[in-house]
Amino acid sequence: MSKAYAAQNLWTSVSLTSSWQYIGNKPRLRGSECESYGCEHKFAMSARSSPMSVQPGVLVSAAPAIHSNSSDSASSSDSISQAKNAPKTIQPVDLDRSASPGRIKTIRNSYRVLKHLTPKQLQDFMNSYVIYGLDWENEAQMIATLGPDYSTVVHDCLISYYSVLNHLCALGEVEKMYIPPVMNTRASILDNQLLYEEFVAREIGLKSGDRVLDLGCGRGRVAAHMSKYTGARVTGLNIDADQLASARSFAAKRRLPLEFIQQDFNVLPLKLESSSFDAFYQIQALSLCKDLPATFREIYRVMKPGAKLSLLDWVSLPAYDPENSEHAELMRRVKPLIGAVGTPTVEKLHSALQDAGFHVVKSNNQSIDGLQAPLIERADGYFRRLQSLVLALVKLHILPPHFKPLMLRLTQDGQAFIQADRMRLITTSYHILAEKPQV
Ligand SMILES: C[S@@+](CC[C@H](N)C(=O)[O-])C[C@H]1O[C@@H](n2cnc3c(N)ncnc32)[C@H](O)[C@@H]1O
Repeated sequence: MSKAYAAQNLWTSVSLTSSWQYIGNKPRLRGSECESYGCEHKFAMSARSSPMSVQPGVLVSAAPAIHSNSSDSASSSDSISQAKNAPKTIQPVDLDRSASPGRIKTIRNSYRVLKHLTPKQLQDFMNSYVIYGLDWENEAQMIATLGPDYSTVVHDCLISYYSVLNHLCALGEVEKMYIPPVMNTRASILDNQLLYEEFVAREIGLKSGDRVLDLGCGRGRVAAHMSKYTGARVTGLNIDADQLASARSFAAKRRLPLEFIQQDFNVLPLKLESSSFDAFYQIQALSLCKDLPATFREIYRVMKPGAKLSLLDWVSLPAYDPENSEHAELMRRVKPLIGAVGTPTVEKLHSALQDAGFHVVKSNNQSIDGLQAPLIERADGYFRRLQSLVLALVKLHILPPHFKPLMLRLTQDGQAFIQADRMRLITTSYHILAEKPQV
């Protein structure tokens, strides 16, 4: 058996077992997990945010009040009982998966790409993380770190980062590069993604033949499912040619009515006609938007009157206090892990949308009980197991040595993400539904 073949088989088996990891097993707390569940920290668990939804036309205020100082909140035993209440089994959900990729083929293809990365691609990927230590709001720091033409440097970093990251993510359950809201606590990450996408399709009223825009469309797998589910024609926009090539070939093989455009959404105007889309959605790309008000104005321009817009993104929540050193440290660790430059608050998103002319219809943390941690834990657990396997295979010279820094970089600080989510400081499952008025 060749080394490459052995590595492929092993990865495939990690991937398949991950889907079954909770069946018949109680999730056990290891030392480090125990800490992050609150054995040593007290988390803000008492002020639970529950998903809020309202009738169209009623704006819901941001997240509910949460203590800004985590130490005066709930006891650590609350956190532990939360962990014990985590779903123990993953159960199949009745969903149409015909526009979902085959896992084994996906893993094999991405493994091949990663194996043949050049030293320059690897170095550029590593260097690209510099942007996640910065924030759009601190332009002086951007200029000091990246130079006066920082927008071009960020553009290049985004391409270097995503052209590799999409393949690393495809080794796990996040080929669609997002942890979805927890829609069903017993469903897998993949099924929660599909459930969320179908929820969006319904809420923005997609019908067969409608034109819908997907900003930051990844490999077009969300677009494929949206189209399969509704018959809509999706236009996906992305900065990265590598993901777009994958999106185009995936859609062509399935004869789906999708089109993909390569463009940096920080370079406006978008190459799209005015009033040409019946609906809009985006999933976890807004933190890479340099100027949210300008981007929303542009999206407003290309949408038809009455069209609905759905956002799912990363925000900092009211409990987050940048002056609190524990919070600031968690933020510093989480941003590179999830690849976020900006960290808007819910209020910032609302005002950028409203300034552009949108009417905010609904605004809520879409995860059940406002917590994504159960799914983040699954992804983190999977990638840590994969990391152990990869490091062993590198040691045995079955995998090339560059897999080691790749895996170490990818998995760094997963626990910080879980902790910050459980403390309700941040979320990547904040959802907003808005509408372009009829007149
Ligand atoms: C975190 S992923 C979000 C998941 C993605 N929606 C999906 O379906 O896989 C962010 C996506 O936005 C794209 N992106 C990042 N910055 C961008 C930019 N400035 N212009 C256009 N696309 C961008 C990335 O290439 C990536 O596909």
